[in-house]
Parts: sequence; structure tokens; C-alpha cells
Amino acid sequence: VDNRQDFKVADLSLAEFGRKEITLAEHEMPGLMAIRKEYAEARPLAGARVTGSLHMTVQTAVLIETLVALGAEVRWASCNIFSTQDHAAAAIAVGPNGTPDDPQGIPVFAWKGETLEEYWWCTEQALTWPDSPTGGPNMILDDGGDATLLVHKGVEYEKDGKVPSPDTAESDEHRVILELLTRTVAESPQKWTQLASEIRGVTEETTTGVHRLYEMQRDGGLLFPAINVNDAVTKSKFDNKYGCRHSLIDGINRATDTLIGGKTAVVCGYGDVGKGCAESLRGQGARVIITEIDPICALQAAMDGYQVTTLEDVVETADIFITTTGNKDIILASDMARMKHQAIVGNIGHFDNEIDMAGLAKIPGIVKDEVKPQVHTWTFPDGKKIIVLSEGRLLNLGNATGHPSFVMSNSFADQTLAQIELFTKPDEYPVGVYTLPKHLDEKVARLHLDALGVKLTTLRPEQAAYIGVEVEGPYKSDHYRY
Ligand code: NAI
Repeated sequence: VDNRQDFKVADLSLAEFGRKEITLAEHEMPGLMAIRKEYAEARPLAGARVTGSLHMTVQTAVLIETLVALGAEVRWASCNIFSTQDHAAAAIAVGPNGTPDDPQGIPVFAWKGETLEEYWWCTEQALTWPDSPTGGPNMILDDGGDATLLVHKGVEYEKDGKVPSPDTAESDEHRVILELLTRTVAESPQKWTQLASEIRGVTEETTTGVHRLYEMQRDGGLLFPAINVNDAVTKSKFDNKYGCRHSLIDGINRATDTLIGGKTAVVCGYGDVGKGCAESLRGQGARVIITEIDPICALQAAMDGYQVTTLEDVVETADIFITTTGNKDIILASDMARMKHQAIVGNIGHFDNEIDMAGLAKIPGIVKDEVKPQVHTWTFPDGKKIIVLSEGRLLNLGNATGHPSFVMSNSFADQTLAQIELFTKPDEYPVGVYTLPKHLDEKVARLHLDALGVKLTTLRPEQAAYIGVEVEGPYKSDHYRY
């Protein structure tokens, strides 16, 4: 790990490779590049100090350099211990004009395969701004809400005057967070309170992080305004669905190279992510079975031609199990104990509690063996093995490289416009959770049409009047579901 300056990445010599892939990605990210061009002179993010906590991939590198082109200063960490692409992190640390011997890039704290302690240390580094008046950022760009959580927990415990003892932690990760906050409060009792005071807002990338924000808003604990980027149509109906349609099977293939055709695959959850996952497995010729708790999504799955049943019914016969729910305890250790020999188990939801990995490790006599990083077999006392991907963490980023550039161009264009909204219009966004205005959502889609050769029909004024919209949009009411 290289630690010469204000960054920490695996290997700076990977920067050139990273830069080549960033250059290729830029062409595939027309939305982000158009935004860079449109705002190059206005620099609406001048003065913004953005702390990002989002998978440090090649696509994220293009996002980071877009924020910088718009005037922002940036510090970055990954939002998952396995999702960093080390060449992308190296290229960001070195910067377009630096060299590995003379890095001139952005403070980035991320490498593939962090421990939990390292992960939270990286998040803390991204949130700690040596030259800022509060010691912190004035904007957060989050994915899953970990940076937002650390600030909120810090403020809460500083108000209480004490951090709960790490001995009371409910999980290893919780213990790590409590230890970190115990240390910061001892070092600087008002660190997080002071830091939070200047934060204008957070833009949140994913379903799970958005849940956390609405919960904090409901409980009255939310400290600053938030834009729910996930529920921009050009995010969740594209990234979650078409992104996972691409990257789920990429992860399974790179991890196992098992032929998917002819196998039985179970997809738990048929939301946006589940829909994309199911389609990709079916595209490979798998027989796909869905589990759902929501009658609407279950009916959708049935009408899309999938068998819908419970995990209990298929746990002993299916070959591949994928969780996509954002919920916990979807596949329990007792389920894994009943699976076929060499069944593949993976999660693509945000956190690692969808599959009960802790319970699996506690089965008496079970043996974990690493096939290669992020691919493990677990051998039960009777000799049966199952294959678990990315230790139960999101496999499309752990075993493959996440979503491809074109779809991330949509999500990250939404992110960038959301950052501009919150940073430049603080008066329009009192503390609360907002979605991106629809005209911006439509704008993001529009920026991606040319690249695909799409010809859009122009609404005539009489037609616009007849359906009650403006010729230039927005074309749908806010309750329209796409
Ligand atoms: P969603 O809310 O649209 O879908 C989740 C579905 O799971 C819902 O339909 C829900 O009814 C169902 N569900 C909940 N509990 C269940 C249970 N016990 N059994 C079966 N089904 C159950 O959410 P979305 O957008 O599909 O996201 C799902 C997760 O994936 C979230 O954690 C999100 O943050 C994450 N995500 C991951 C991405 C990746 O690249 N790996 C990309 C986008 C989202």
C-alpha cells in the first residue's frame, strides 16, 4: 500500500493502465462528458468540497474528474471493501498530469480487499479535510450511506457526551464503527458536530442508502438535505436493472466459469435489481425462479414468465442462488446446509447481511477454502461443498467490475446534477429528502440518445396542449411509474 502523500491506494504503477481505461470510458459516458462541457465555464461547484463514498471504479474516476472540472475539490473512498479497481484508484491518485513518482491527483483512500478497520479508516480520511474551516466537506456524495452514517452517529454520540462501548456492538462492523468514534471523540470531542455544521447536503446513489435517509428523516435525525438520486428514473430503471443485467452474469462467469444455460437459478427479490438479474440469467438459458414478498412484484414476475415460489421449495434443487432484496437474512445458514453440492450462492444487494455468512461460519465442522480472491468453497461435515461469491458482498463489484460505463453515465449525470442543485440552491432545499426534478431526469436521458442513434419525435404544440404538457417537457407527472 502506497502512503507517500495524502492518499492510500494499492499500487501507483497501475496508473497508466487506469488512465487508458478512463479514456475509453469517457467515450462511453456521453452524459457526464456533455455536462462537463456545458458547465466548464460556469464551474457551478467552485467552492464545493465533496467527500465521495462510492465504489472506486473506472466509471467513478470519470465522475470524480467531472466534479473537479466543475470546480469541486474532492476526497474519495470506496463504499465496499472489495469494489475498488486498483488501477482506477491509482490513476485518480496520480492525476492526468502526474506520474507515479510525482502524483498530482486527488486524495483517494481505496484498494481492493480492505479489512473492515481499513474500510472505515478510509471513510474517515475522505471525510477529514486538512485545510477546511470545519475540518470536513461541505457536500457528500454517498452510495449506501456509510459516510452519511458516520457523520450522523458522530454527531449523535457527541451530543450524548459518550460513545456506546464497542463491547455492546451487534456485529463486527458495528464494533469497528464504535471503536473509530470512541477514538475521534477522545481526540476531538466536537469533530463531527463541527464538521456537520457546514454540510449543505448529500446525494445518495442507491436504494439501501435512500432507505436510511428516509428513516432518519422520519425519526427527526436528518442533519442536512439529501437528494435521493436512486429514484431518478434514469438511475433506478437503468443502473439497477440494465446494469445488473450486464454485471451479474459477468461476476458469476469470472468467479466460476460455470455454464449457466440449463441450470436452475433462484433470484430472491423482483425489484429493479431482481428484474435485471432474472433477465440476464434467462438470457443465458437458465431456468429462473423468483422469490418475492410483495404481491405486485410477484405478479410481475409471473407475467414475465417466471415461476414464483418460496426459497424453501427450491433450496435443495437449484444450482445458483442470487439475493437482490436489500433486506437481511434472505438465505440462512440452514438453507445453505440443504443446498446441492457445488451450488453457487451470491448477493448483489448493497450489504452483506442478505446471506447469513456469520451463521455459515458457525456451523460445526464447516471448512472455508479460498479458490481465488472473492471465491470460496465451504465444505460441510458430510463433504458437500457450496461456492460463495465475494463473501456475501455485492458480487458484481467483487467478482467483476460492476456496471459498464454507458449505464453509469446516466447514474453519475444524475449525481452531478444533484450535487449542483444542492450546492447552488441551498434555499430551495430545506432539510429533507428530495428526488431530482423531472426536467433534469429527462435531460439526462436526452444526453444519451445520440450515442445510440435514437431519433426522438418532437411533440407538436397542439399535441402538447392536448395532453397538457409543454413541448420541451416534462412529459410525465411525478406519479408516473415508467
Ligand atoms: P427494490 O426495492 O426495487 O427491490 C427489492 C425487492 O426485494 C422488492 O421487490 C422487495 O419486495 C423484495 N424483497 C424484500 N424482502 C424480500 C424477501 N424476504 N424475499 C424475497 N423478496 C424480498 O430495490 P432495488 O433497487 O432492486 O435494490 C435492491 C438492492 O440492490 C439494494 O440493496 C440496492 O441498494 C442494491 N443495488 C445494488 C446494485 C449493484 O450494482 N450491486 C445496483 C443497484 C442497487
